[in-house]
Amino acid sequence: MSEAAQDIPMTARWRPDQIEEATAALRRGALVAFPTETVYGLGGDARSDKAAAAIFAAKGRPSFNPLIVHVADEAMAARCADLPGAARPLIERWWPGPLTLVAPVRPEAGLSRLVGAGLPTVAIRVPAHPLARRLLAAFGGPVAAPSANPSGRISPTTADHVLAGLSGRIAGVLDGGPCPVGLESTIVGFDGDRPVMLREGGVTREEIEDALGRPLGAPEGRDVTAPGQLLSHYAPNARLRLGADAARVGEALLGFGPAPGAALNLSPAGDLTEAAANLFAMLHELDRTAAAIAVSPIPDRGLGRAINDRLRRAAAPRQGAPHAERS
Ligand code: TXA
Ligand code: MG
Repeated sequence: MSEAAQDIPMTARWRPDQIEEATAALRRGALVAFPTETVYGLGGDARSDKAAAAIFAAKGRPSFNPLIVHVADEAMAARCADLPGAARPLIERWWPGPLTLVAPVRPEAGLSRLVGAGLPTVAIRVPAHPLARRLLAAFGGPVAAPSANPSGRISPTTADHVLAGLSGRIAGVLDGGPCPVGLESTIVGFDGDRPVMLREGGVTREEIEDALGRPLGAPEGRDVTAPGQLLSHYAPNARLRLGADAARVGEALLGFGPAPGAALNLSPAGDLTEAAANLFAMLHELDRTAAAIAVSPIPDRGLGRAINDRLRRAAAPRQGAPHAERS
């Protein structure tokens, strides 16, 4: 074995029945990727500065971008955050589920200050995936977990995606197969008692407004209220062209609905739930083979909003990126 290979620790791939290995790694402050219903998370003990710092380092994530804290149940969430009364209908319906709430942090929770990147609030969620639930229950504490991808790259919806991006930088990944939702959680914050949408995601705006019985607000002012919502994100290496009716020469078409000649189709039947579940995996796949990807138009309603949000970010020019010269 070469010296370089010895320096890189092996990243384990754990089966669903190896929760104890993953829990032990979390207990010693190591990093563990695990499936949630949305995307795979890169988890570390949220009370440990060492683990939180290691998450930022493994992802190459800017330290001003705070992490989501994952907990087993509402009781543990309430120990970490002061959840406002307005959150009640959302908690009842989506915890566990693909909804993150941002609320004032409770200092007694002992969360690492790195997790919140200096903010007075914390983003918190109770994931629904059975493996995530078993891991969180066995660990018995809060787990900070951003998506398990190198910062700025496409989010992972399989253990293979995680290993392609982070192998050698984390202790292991719990392999739970593909994530059923396929898009990150929706993030809702509170402006006083008024719920505001901070990030579109796996729960639709329509569903949330239905549960609240009133419209969601937009974030106030010019503050970046979800600091990770930088424009260029979820970026494949391939160039991306959105709203395409057909592929041009040199492009692979990522279809939606009837799309003759499509290399892959998010949902031939035009189903947005199916398209969301396929989005990142198909982007990962086309990114391995095509230099340019054209994407069919996606209706901007329901889950289509979050899909279009991710596609716009994936298509945005990046500084220093191979196709940053695009206007
Ligand atoms: O579905 C998900 O949410 C996945 C899985 C793993 O749970 N996690 C995820 O984490 O997408 P990440 O780190 O990729 O995105 C977290 C987002 C970032 O945009 C971050 O800025 C925002 O949450 N965030 C975290 N703490 C916040 C806070 N206190 N206030 C506002 N936004 C916050
Ligand atoms: Mg992410």
